[in-house]
Amino acid sequence: MTSPRVQQLIDGMTWAEKLGQLQIVFRPRPEDAAALVRAGIGSTFWPRSAAATNALQREAVEHTRLGIPLLIGLDVIHGQRTIAPVPLAMAATFDAPLVEDLARLAATEARSGGVTWTFSPMIDVSRDPRWGRVVEGFGEDVHVNAVLGAAMVRGYQGTDLAAADSIAATAKHFVAYGQPEGGRDYNAVDVSTHRLRNVYLEPFRAAVDAGAAAVMASFNTVSGIPMHANRHLLTDVLKSEWGFGGIVVGDADGVRNLLPHGVAEDMVQAVRMAYEAGLDVEMGGAPSDVAAALTPDVLDGARIDDAVARVLALKESLGLFENPYVDEDAELVAPTAAARELVRGAAARAAVLLKNDGTLPLSAPARVLLTGPYADSTDHLGAWTQSFAAPSGSIAGELSARWPATEVQVVPGVSFLGDGSDDIAAAVAAARIVDAIVICVGEPSALSGEAASRSDLRLPGRQADLIRAIAGCGIPFVVVLANGRPLVVADWIDEAPAVLEVWHGGTEAPAAIVDVLTGERDPAGRLPMSFPRSVGQVPVYYAHENTGRPATTGGALELEHADVGLHGPDNVQDKYTSKYLDAELGPEFDFGHGSGYATFTHGEPRLTVAELKLERVHAGEAVTLSLDVTNTSGRRGDEVIQLFIEDLVASVAPPVRRLVAFERRTFEPGARAVIEFSVGQEQLGFWVTDGVGASFRVERGTFHLHIGGALKHTQFVELRVI
Ligand code: BGC
Repeated sequence: MTSPRVQQLIDGMTWAEKLGQLQIVFRPRPEDAAALVRAGIGSTFWPRSAAATNALQREAVEHTRLGIPLLIGLDVIHGQRTIAPVPLAMAATFDAPLVEDLARLAATEARSGGVTWTFSPMIDVSRDPRWGRVVEGFGEDVHVNAVLGAAMVRGYQGTDLAAADSIAATAKHFVAYGQPEGGRDYNAVDVSTHRLRNVYLEPFRAAVDAGAAAVMASFNTVSGIPMHANRHLLTDVLKSEWGFGGIVVGDADGVRNLLPHGVAEDMVQAVRMAYEAGLDVEMGGAPSDVAAALTPDVLDGARIDDAVARVLALKESLGLFENPYVDEDAELVAPTAAARELVRGAAARAAVLLKNDGTLPLSAPARVLLTGPYADSTDHLGAWTQSFAAPSGSIAGELSARWPATEVQVVPGVSFLGDGSDDIAAAVAAARIVDAIVICVGEPSALSGEAASRSDLRLPGRQADLIRAIAGCGIPFVVVLANGRPLVVADWIDEAPAVLEVWHGGTEAPAAIVDVLTGERDPAGRLPMSFPRSVGQVPVYYAHENTGRPATTGGALELEHADVGLHGPDNVQDKYTSKYLDAELGPEFDFGHGSGYATFTHGEPRLTVAELKLERVHAGEAVTLSLDVTNTSGRRGDEVIQLFIEDLVASVAPPVRRLVAFERRTFEPGARAVIEFSVGQEQLGFWVTDGVGASFRVERGTFHLHIGGALKHTQFVELRVI
């Protein structure tokens, strides 16, 4: 419903004023910004302070005919000033309320400076770690992306967009951007409607349900049609079927990119295609000569009015017509103590204990060596932070302060990418005379993020050589791994007694890493993406469909050729299954993998009833699955309970497992609690496509509900839908 104010504005607007509202200019030069605003642009990127923002708003409000305030956009991805862990690390917390709080903090800081619109959360299900942008999202799982994406939307937007600490969220990138061919950024996506519906669209449906103000079109094609020109997905699915009433914004120059995509001859055609497809705001700024050619004969007037109404409605919900300005004196330019504590806790909760033979946690030794390029690096903020973000310190600085009586030696030994200064011998010499060693390795922030795909997922440079050399010294050591994507660790993992994955943890990362190393906090994060054994295995993810010939064993590289086929003896049959001859089955570390310092036992899972009638499921009936969990250790710690569904027989080949619920819970030493999950239509159903439309359906049959603290350590109960 268009409000009276919005309708009145539209009725009085010229064609040029309408088109101006449909653009967000991508970082104009400061000296050009005021003129652009006077010329009528509707939105721009944040000019980097509350004062500069107010100055631009004043241009819009006082020096344009209609006085319409601006939307001020910015990529506030995991913090504005106080930087939280990267989104992939947020996913590793498996803690939706925490993720909501982190978005709230980001919104509070950003809005205080005049930002009203963020281009976050990224909810592209990503199963290819070669793609550098996996760092910006929540990993490989549909449910995790849906739950955490919705949590971020709620965190950014709060209950009232007009509040002084709320900003409009953008769910991006719509859609299937996470499946680029070869893992190369911006690449083509060829995806079935079945997978689109069941995998890539689901998190967006959840974000729309959570009230996301905007959705961003993605750079990729879907089945040959670039998303900026994809009417079926932008209009038929997103706007008509889902009833999305917000803004569809283009990605940076995404409309212009229709030319190299080879679907538009010139910008006029590109702009027309985009608006006809359902785009509402073009990001980048079409040049003025194009604007002159975009006459009412070229663009459909009703469509343009609809797009303008959406933009003005958002400005209205943000309260900008009443109050376009921010209080310059109240701008938050540095983290508060509470903000630091929040992101520190989050960085510790994101840490994943990949393996531990008891070496961790460490107690203060007499002498410790910190080695590896992350030992004294301050590159902890992650790929999407800007120059005005609060910096982090280093692990070396933090550990020295925490253990004043310990002699802390810092000998990096190698650089990140490998250069002439590498001196592994120096690190080994230092290692021989200490009591404990912390090897701090990883990928610097610049190796993940946009346009940062890699074809080799091992630690770059000579970092693996360093780990192997230190392992030869016979001194207890732990490896701290800081990175923005799953890595291939096969070339050193067996030699490391304990490995802690800490990602890029943000402003307070070093403090959080030391908290976890020393056992002051528990590292109970879980992997949001599988870690492959080798690049050749990618994509490798847990929720794959079964084949007609599922593999039972892998890694049997034999020269003998058997021409017996499926009907031969058992050992020959085993050859003809879906696997690599030169790799073990499955990833190095599964999705959901991780432990903590505390230990837990689980009772038998129980269901309230073992059978449900389909009609009752449709009517909303659900069963409750409960599990007793006990902390058997003398430490306080967290368990992350994960519930996976296995649909034994369905009309479409189902994934072997599908996460439908999770909960992270803290347990005092010896404490016991019952975890309960409800299983009904939403958990049991899936999308069935028939070439014309799609419907969400629960089918009769048997389901195994697998529950536990990790994919490989689950128990199941059977549920029948009759
Ligand atoms: C990215 C978007 C981002 C936009 C604006 C693009 O290159 O793909 O995710 O929001 O730039 O900075």
